[in-house]
Amino acid sequence: MKPEPYTFTYIDEFGHTNSAACGQNEYHSLMELLFDKYLQEWGDCKGRAWCGTCHIQILEGYLSSKMQQEEKQTLSHLDDACAQSRLACQIPVNAELHNLVFKVITENDYGSK
Ligand code: FES
Repeated sequence: MKPEPYTFTYIDEFGHTNSAACGQNEYHSLMELLFDKYLQEWGDCKGRAWCGTCHIQILEGYLSSKMQQEEKQTLSHLDDACAQSRLACQIPVNAELHNLVFKVITENDYGSK
């Protein structure tokens, strides 16, 4: 029997609420998944936690993966980062994505400081 896909919800840059799904082990990170299927304007550093273009804010749900130093550092340079902020490229695709709700943050000026 094929495993159920993970489904989650994200709010895009236009404020629209979107449902998304992916199979288990289909992508390495949330950024790769969204870049491939839904969003083209992010992922500049290809998932190295350097560019900040994959900034999201978790609205509902919980991620147990701890932030590494590189992610903390990049988020610290983003004006609109908050306690719920994460970089999608550092979030593995696993069961914790299921029913997660997050907002895609597109306005940032990383690099201009
Ligand atoms: S893709 Fe660059 S920080 Fe995530």
